[in-house]
Amino acid sequence: MSAQTYVSELFSLDGRAAVVTGGSSGIGRAIAGALARAGARVVVVARRETELKDTVEELTADGCRAAWVSADLGTGEGVRGAAEGAVAAFGEPDILVNCAGINLRPPMSDLGEDVWDTTMAVNLKAPFLLGQRFGPGMAERGYGRIIHVSSQQAHRAFVSSGAYGVSKGGLESLARSQAEAWSPYGVTVNTLVPGFVLTPLNARLQSDPEKVAALAARTMVGRNGLAEDFAGAAVFLAGRSSAYVTGQSVFVDGGFSVH
Ligand SMILES: NC(=O)c1ccc[n+]([C@@H]2O[C@H](COP(=O)([O-])OP(=O)(O)OC[C@H]3O[C@@H](n4cnc5c(N)ncnc54)[C@H](OP(=O)(O)O)[C@@H]3O)[C@@H](O)[C@H]2O)c1
Repeated sequence: MSAQTYVSELFSLDGRAAVVTGGSSGIGRAIAGALARAGARVVVVARRETELKDTVEELTADGCRAAWVSADLGTGEGVRGAAEGAVAAFGEPDILVNCAGINLRPPMSDLGEDVWDTTMAVNLKAPFLLGQRFGPGMAERGYGRIIHVSSQQAHRAFVSSGAYGVSKGGLESLARSQAEAWSPYGVTVNTLVPGFVLTPLNARLQSDPEKVAALAARTMVGRNGLAEDFAGAAVFLAGRSSAYVTGQSVFVDGGFSVH
């Protein structure tokens, strides 16, 4: 067997359909690109159409199959529209990546019900609802991969973690509940845990070079994360070779969490 055939047997996503929320920017865009280049048909979901179109054009130009759905995952109606739009594009998905997320950072004393509710809706309830929509079907068909994207703030307080850290802690617990329910039927559920990654999400924090350097020094690798750092882990968790990995939080953080 050639090395290429062996690697392909382990990691190829040929024939799989994937939905990646937040797939138009940052980490989600890198994950969508990785899954598509590994062979999956990928639907990216977010609100802004220009970024969505741009992502799909880039992937299509690379010979991949990709489609987009614009939806606000902060509402139940938006989540349902996203799910149905994704299915209309490429059929019921084998892979669901919940990467859409927001990080509003009011100081704890000023954190109101509005920020709490919006944060929970996008970061936690949408992944739950998409899981309810797609998980049982994956279990019935005997194959599924759900990948959530959490945060180091599920594990420690960090720059006004407020509602955000709570939502991400809930997301990792959701992954374990879903893993318990569906792993016996071939559906694994895991969470990727980023440290500090240079994306538009934390543009404001990145404007302070001293802070950026200090964060890089807190890792073991010696630099902050890049969206591309998530490609390999996502392909692994989406493919058949991760069949015995479930309910886990996989830190992709350059050693930040253990330093
Ligand atoms: N960057 C970091 O350091 C870091 C660290 C830990 C965890 N994370 C997590 O990693 C994930 C990706 O973050 P990122 O850094 O790549 O951020 P990003 O570049 O800002 O991307 C966020 C994505 O989510 C989408 N999104 C946000 N709100 C949405 C909504 N209501 N409905 C639909 N889509 C929505 C955005 O598109 P639209 O705005 O067009 O909707 C965008 O595609 C997030 O869950 C984040 O919490 C990031």
